[in-house]
Amino acid sequence: MRVGLLTGGGDVPGLNAAIRAVVKHGEGQHGHSIIGFRNGWKGVVDGYSVPLTRQLIRNVLPVGGTLLGTARFHPHADDGGIDAVLATLEAERIEALICIGGDGTLHAASKVAEAGVRIVAIPKTIDNDVWGTDQSIGFDTAVSIATEAIDRIHTTAESHNRVMIVEVMGRHAGWIAATSGIAGGAEIVLAPEQPFDIDKIERFLKHRHRAHASFSIVVVAEGAVPAEGTSMHYETQMGKFGEIVAGAIGERLKVEIEKRTGFDTRVTVLGHIQRGGTPTPTDRILGSRFGVAAIDAITRGESGVMTALRGETVEMVPLSEIAGKVKYVPDELLGVARALA
Ligand code: F6P
Repeated sequence: MRVGLLTGGGDVPGLNAAIRAVVKHGEGQHGHSIIGFRNGWKGVVDGYSVPLTRQLIRNVLPVGGTLLGTARFHPHADDGGIDAVLATLEAERIEALICIGGDGTLHAASKVAEAGVRIVAIPKTIDNDVWGTDQSIGFDTAVSIATEAIDRIHTTAESHNRVMIVEVMGRHAGWIAATSGIAGGAEIVLAPEQPFDIDKIERFLKHRHRAHASFSIVVVAEGAVPAEGTSMHYETQMGKFGEIVAGAIGERLKVEIEKRTGFDTRVTVLGHIQRGGTPTPTDRILGSRFGVAAIDAITRGESGVMTALRGETVEMVPLSEIAGKVKYVPDELLGVARALA
């Protein structure tokens, strides 16, 4: 069988492990030919393909990014996009497609599946907000990078008696903020799930610095917002594809905190560092498991499904079940971050 493969949306560490698994297991075990499409859905629309051989996937486990390239491009949002996808798949004699992506790419996958294409999806996003799976590829590496950054910020915060704000990614869900905040011992964690009250933050910081410390660390997810009716007004600034303007909430908080407390405050925006470089073993293993599960599902004839980690096992969930849903951080996890302030 000729199986197409693409990676779409923001890159994450661990994508190459998934690509490698699809190629190695697909070719070696099932005798399929794997055809890669460059730059996500854009490559399918443009007919930009590359046969994925064993040679191309050699030594890619420790390499970040995606050897196929990626793009934020959604064929269903482009005039004639779905027709162009169908034309390319026919011309390339592709019988099934594996799409690795986050919410945007998976939404596009469900639209293409509706047009009659056999599709199996694999979830990846450092935001970890894809519904239906306990974890997405890339999240573990991002948390490990963010935690290391917070550890490093600690020593300089303490030396200078400063409030240090660390802005991490997370548009709709604060998974990176909550987990790296707990692991790094942040005093305050702000996540999109629980809009914050700047007056409470002010009171907390003043009390802490009066009572027992001369520095504080605030971890804020880029999508965090103040609660309605509170004394800080702020609107999230978004780009064309729903990406949030990096540093906007961090800078705004710095101004508010400095003005209200008088404490010397600095911001570090981790940005794309969280998505770069070598994947952790956990992400390499998850990518490998999802890759093997996806090609096995394709071979069994499944379609319109996504690989999902559920407890200890990898299962398949229907794409229709995850559509339009966001996996938010549970209150319990955010509660732990608060409890250890
Ligand atoms: O892929 C998710 C994500 O990393 C978000 O956390 C972030 O808002 C966005 O991508 C950034 O997008 P871009 O790489 O297009 O600037």
